[in-house]
Amino acid sequence: MIYLKTPEELEKMQAACTLVSKAMGAVAQAIAPGVTTHKLDSIARETMLAGGGRPACLGYQGFPGTLCIEVNEVVVHGFPSNYALREGDIVGIDTVVELDGFCGDMCYTFPVGEVDPKVMTLLKTTKEALYRGIAACKVDKRVGDISNAIQTYCESRGYTLVREMCGHGIGKSMHEDPEVPNYGRKGTGPLLRNGMCIAIEPMVNLGSRHVTFEKDGWTCRTRDRKPSAHFEHTVALVNDETRILTTFNYIEAALGDRKV
Ligand code: MF3
Ligand code: CO
Repeated sequence: MIYLKTPEELEKMQAACTLVSKAMGAVAQAIAPGVTTHKLDSIARETMLAGGGRPACLGYQGFPGTLCIEVNEVVVHGFPSNYALREGDIVGIDTVVELDGFCGDMCYTFPVGEVDPKVMTLLKTTKEALYRGIAACKVDKRVGDISNAIQTYCESRGYTLVREMCGHGIGKSMHEDPEVPNYGRKGTGPLLRNGMCIAIEPMVNLGSRHVTFEKDGWTCRTRDRKPSAHFEHTVALVNDETRILTTFNYIEAALGDRKV
């Protein structure tokens, strides 16, 4: 069931997405070698609560954090911990805020200090793949057009796409229909229509596409333990236009020339 949002609901989606973007900006300011991922989690939670929002990941099906923490080979859904970030790490930070009943979802993968140039290129490619996916997300096109844009951009550059997790519709719930895979064929899948809100989130690997899940039931890693990158925006289709509701501006203002 795909829920089409009314103009009033789209305003609430925008407010939730602005708050999650600001929370990610606060996290970005703190990212440095030596900082624990617990510390980043507290910063995000406090920013969300101060903005009147609810950290929607916290307690979701038992998830123990505000942030999903994705260090190096972690693809998605790692837990905040007392691990201190190290020079040369990459850390994906994925989170959702609920504000006034609606959810905003986003992810950015941060370099920590100096990162191997090959890994930096993986980050840039994944971020660009997200924007290629968004460019393909247009009223009267289909979900498969988004999927195919992401897949062809990444695979033509020698990277692989994780298939076990997908982008998704978003609204009152963080996960709504439709599913938005990061691989697929043009012209297939559900039709994109005005009022739809979608989280697009390529998860891109340097090595093989295969992943394993830890016994904690959540943490997903690359099988070959090579790095994985992840970027995500929440977008809305309104009046035949595609609006990116989340923004990386707060993050990138904080990062300056360390931005991806
Ligand atoms: N963007 C993530 C997703 O769509 C957010 C997960 S929150 C969690 O899966 F609680 F499920 F971890
Ligand atoms: Co998501």
